[in-house]
Amino acid sequence: MTSNADLHARRQAAIPRGVSNSLAVYAERASNSELWDVEGKRYIDFASGISVVNTGHVHPKVKAAVTQQLEKLMHACFQVTPYESYVALAEKLNELMPATGPKKTIFLTTGAEAVENAVKIARFHTKRSAVIAFTGGFHGRTLACISLTGKVQPYKAGFGPMLPEVYHVPYPMAYHGVKVEDSLDALTQLFKADVDPARVAAIIIEPVLGEGGFHAAPAELLRKLRALCDQHGILLIADEIQCGFARTGRMFAIEHAGVEPDLMTIAKSVAGGVPLSAVVGKAEIMDAPGPGGLGGTYAGSPLGCAAGLAVLDVIRDEKLLERASQTGNFLVSRLKGLQARFPAIGDVRGLGAMVAIELVKNRRADAPDADLTKALVQAAARRGLIILACGMYGNVIRFLTPLTISDALLKEGMNLFEQALADAVQAVEGRSAATA
Ligand SMILES: Cc1ncc(COP(=O)(O)O)c(C=O)c1O
Repeated sequence: MTSNADLHARRQAAIPRGVSNSLAVYAERASNSELWDVEGKRYIDFASGISVVNTGHVHPKVKAAVTQQLEKLMHACFQVTPYESYVALAEKLNELMPATGPKKTIFLTTGAEAVENAVKIARFHTKRSAVIAFTGGFHGRTLACISLTGKVQPYKAGFGPMLPEVYHVPYPMAYHGVKVEDSLDALTQLFKADVDPARVAAIIIEPVLGEGGFHAAPAELLRKLRALCDQHGILLIADEIQCGFARTGRMFAIEHAGVEPDLMTIAKSVAGGVPLSAVVGKAEIMDAPGPGGLGGTYAGSPLGCAAGLAVLDVIRDEKLLERASQTGNFLVSRLKGLQARFPAIGDVRGLGAMVAIELVKNRRADAPDADLTKALVQAAARRGLIILACGMYGNVIRFLTPLTISDALLKEGMNLFEQALADAVQAVEGRSAATA
């Protein structure tokens, strides 16, 4: 039998360290919210491959749609001989985008590619070049995307120069004392000191920060950004790649604020595990670049589009918006219970089923505990639970269960989490006592 250790040794010899692994657990198969490694060990999956399988691993309806598509056509390239599933999925996403008026959709393959294309479209439409993004934001790993990403290590350092004319302002983080007015003041200062708003093509924002630690943008900020964009002819881009697709209890997280974006980037859960991404936007903006200016060989592959159509049916048929809210409520209430018992849990926050805790020393928001966070991820895996870390200081644990998870697995997973937290606290305390 292949072991995790053998595979990890081969991986270290064959694959660069730049692509890191959260766990040295080699996945063999998965079904809904469970995953089995090559040694046959079973895990409950609270990571969903970073929010990709909101509809669960290998959902039978998604699998059937992909299998059926495989029998007929694997690749044609939409730019050569188009196919119906691309058109049909675009029509559905246009209907779902929370904005009035006609909309259009282009498909791509990865989240980063969607962000790149949103910026290209915004620049072409506005004939402006500057872009404003947020500290703590994450938009992908291509050169334009790392320029927009608001975190130097490990994403930007050493990879420069960055795209010019990208500016960052603070993202509100209540737990860290960053308020909406801090973001707005920074924008005022930016327009006074650094860039003429008439040169700004777009403001890009994650309605809920993903990698940055699951802080939800207050509705007030999103409304004020909308007003500022309207005032200066700037486009508002909502990056819904991690927070979209039913994760927060709405199809798209920006809907909680009742704000209409001009463009929206989508990826991850759009196709239930098949690589697919999209830019959806107001038709007159999307139509700005001329023929040939947008596209990609694999962009909007027949397999991805077939999966995407099935994912939308699953979200509707299994009422996953409601399920996301129920799941989130359950997680938050269990985590608040743990917070009362474990001083290491400084904050519990969430929007729908996008839930996180922040691990700190002595209940202090300014004392992030990245060591405990790392230990907890490993301790959870030993107990049979997959969780993920994130956050500006590497001290946030995010909960991204499939939205199709059963109540029984949700409870079992939280029981494992509680045991793992006790293990990790004990291990880290033991280590500090030994070095004291
Ligand atoms: C908000 C957000 N934008 C963009 C991306 C980049 O997506 P991808 O990794 O598919 O390129 C991610 C990935 O985590 C993300 O969370």
